Amino acid sequence: MEALPSGHLPEYAFIGRSNVGKSSLINALMNQKKLAKVSSTPGKTKLINHFVINENWYLVDLPGYGYAKVSKKDRAGFHQIITDYFKGRENLQCCFTLIDSRVPPQKIDIEFVNLLAEHGIPQVIVFTKADKLKLNELNRNVQIFSNELLKYWEELPYMIKTSSVDLRGKEEIFELIDDTNKHFFKKNS
Ligand code: GTP
Ligand code: MG
Repeated sequence: MEALPSGHLPEYAFIGRSNVGKSSLINALMNQKKLAKVSSTPGKTKLINHFVINENWYLVDLPGYGYAKVSKKDRAGFHQIITDYFKGRENLQCCFTLIDSRVPPQKIDIEFVNLLAEHGIPQVIVFTKADKLKLNELNRNVQIFSNELLKYWEELPYMIKTSSVDLRGKEEIFELIDDTNKHFFKKNS
């Protein structure tokens, strides 16, 4: 496997179930349609992709988890890649965990959120495809997901509702990254 770039810059990982809208969100964030591959066929983004942004932070596109049609062996492979990644990236500031806002809490999503929390990896829950729901439905689904997490944790991670169609949530994600970068560079200067 090719080596990952050296970790001297703050790093932000994006991960989620296949087809959650990760590539679309990354493209919407970057305003550049060719940056990450968008596909309607689940499971296309399979390896770890680093994008350096403004020469001062990394956006990391992690492989989608939980795509039912990949073989068990491949799935174990992805799992290993992801686990190794989280173990090895000292400059990882935060993981943006993408959750499809339209569906009830999925076991695999809850497990992933819990896994990061157990390992003390900071994360932000990013609800995707918010444009597909009415506001009250969206809020209800966020509440249902929150209630599910509250079965395991006393505190909830920060949550952002996003859409790569109407671009809501985009500024909030950038503000969070900018703030965190400021702290990072202050600490490391
Ligand atoms: P894989 O890389 O295949 O795992 O998928 P992905 O998570 O990168 O998802 P992708 O961005 O390819 O989007 C999957 C499907 O959802 C595509 O048909 C997108 O057009 C659609 N989609 C993604 N984000 C949004 C959104 O915010 N709103 C709406 N309405 N559709 C979206
Ligand atoms: Mg993708």
